[in-house]
Amino acid sequence: MAQYQPWLDTSTDPTIQLLVPNNRLDNLSLPNPLVTVSNFDTQIKEGNSPVDTSLVNVTNLKTLQTMESYLSLSCGLKILQSANPFKAISKSLFVDNSGIEIANLDALYNFSQTRGGLLAPLSPDPIVYCLLGGAPGGVGQYMQYRLPNSFGYAMSLTSEQGGRPWDHNHLDKRVLRITDGEDGTGDLISNADWMAHWIKNDATISGNVTPAKLRKDNLGVDIVIGLAYLDRTDDLSRERDNFKLLVAQSLTALQVLWPDGTMILKCVGANTRATADLIIILSRHFEKVNMMQPLTMDPSSDKFYLICQKFVKQPIVDSTVNLLREIHEKQRLGHSVAKLLMVPSPETDLSIKHYNNLFLQRRLLVLQIVKDVILLIENGQKEQAQKVLNKFVPRFNLYKTSIFWNLPS
Ligand SMILES: C[S@@+](CC[C@H](N)C(=O)[O-])C[C@H]1O[C@@H](n2cnc3c(N)ncnc32)[C@H](O)[C@@H]1O
Repeated sequence: MAQYQPWLDTSTDPTIQLLVPNNRLDNLSLPNPLVTVSNFDTQIKEGNSPVDTSLVNVTNLKTLQTMESYLSLSCGLKILQSANPFKAISKSLFVDNSGIEIANLDALYNFSQTRGGLLAPLSPDPIVYCLLGGAPGGVGQYMQYRLPNSFGYAMSLTSEQGGRPWDHNHLDKRVLRITDGEDGTGDLISNADWMAHWIKNDATISGNVTPAKLRKDNLGVDIVIGLAYLDRTDDLSRERDNFKLLVAQSLTALQVLWPDGTMILKCVGANTRATADLIIILSRHFEKVNMMQPLTMDPSSDKFYLICQKFVKQPIVDSTVNLLREIHEKQRLGHSVAKLLMVPSPETDLSIKHYNNLFLQRRLLVLQIVKDVILLIENGQKEQAQKVLNKFVPRFNLYKTSIFWNLPS
């Protein structure tokens, strides 16, 4: 019943806490990666990309939208917070929630190539990473903690441009070079190519950290983590805004990643054709691609992570970079993109739909409970409301949730 009690007893390793009480990695099995295709033709089709019925259960999506108003009530948010036992750990360790989410993903996918939960990296090679839209810096904190010999590059929208400021007090700036880009805005959209060029040609390493790999001619990074998103009201415009950021971040990432590298992108929905097509195109360059909503993420969230592992730098990566640049430029000129692939890929659509529907069910479940509790409180049935809450909170203990989500248990 109180399985998440230990989570509140924070020690210094977020990953160990994450796995309590199931803190053995050996028995873990992860959900199947996306089914992807390797050959396809592309053609950018302009226009607005609506929700696509082959990608998501539209009825469920509509039901969800009618319930979201309950979250705008302050008591709705409070109920929601009480439902996320991970929030407390996150707050005590990181400056924003993305730190614990990335720790969670690392424990599952081991992209840092440390054995999840152990403090010593397996490889003595220092890792080089790049954070896009990473302010205030929870993920930077995690990387610096997990990989003490690592070095990072970062860019995020400046506060003058409406972005969140970096929390400089919690980041070791000797091993993290933060840039505001060529134009001083920190905007990934206007600096996508510039950022790649800077990392490969101009960025220098300060302090006494000189990662061995960077001494080679081919400068680059092992891990790119793209976290940029804008908060807008409705799901569809959030996904459209995020799409532009996904294109910009991928454009930077594919130019700087080393072979075998990892790219992680925080996505806001994959319910439109354009986002799904982009996922299919990106997945051509990685051996394994997963869509994952870690347990540590707010259960009402419409976001998920796209985890692309083992970058294969075949010659065709240049044509994908050119395609991404073309989409990027179109959007900067104000043209929306509706579709990127000429030939449909029903198998991949099914695979994306599977994940979309899982994410949707999780949101529906939590919203239903929030709604029930609010209605009971409004009717003066406080005791009953508490009962519903009590029943609901254990649903989010690690064991039950991992079954619900087909996550490692
Ligand atoms: C990392 S999140 C904010 C942290 C959040 N609490 C979390 O835990 O995920 C979104 C970040 O993207 C940044 N961002 C949004 N649009 C951007 C853009 N066009 N270029 C660069 N950064 C951007 C925001 O300023 C913010 O720092």
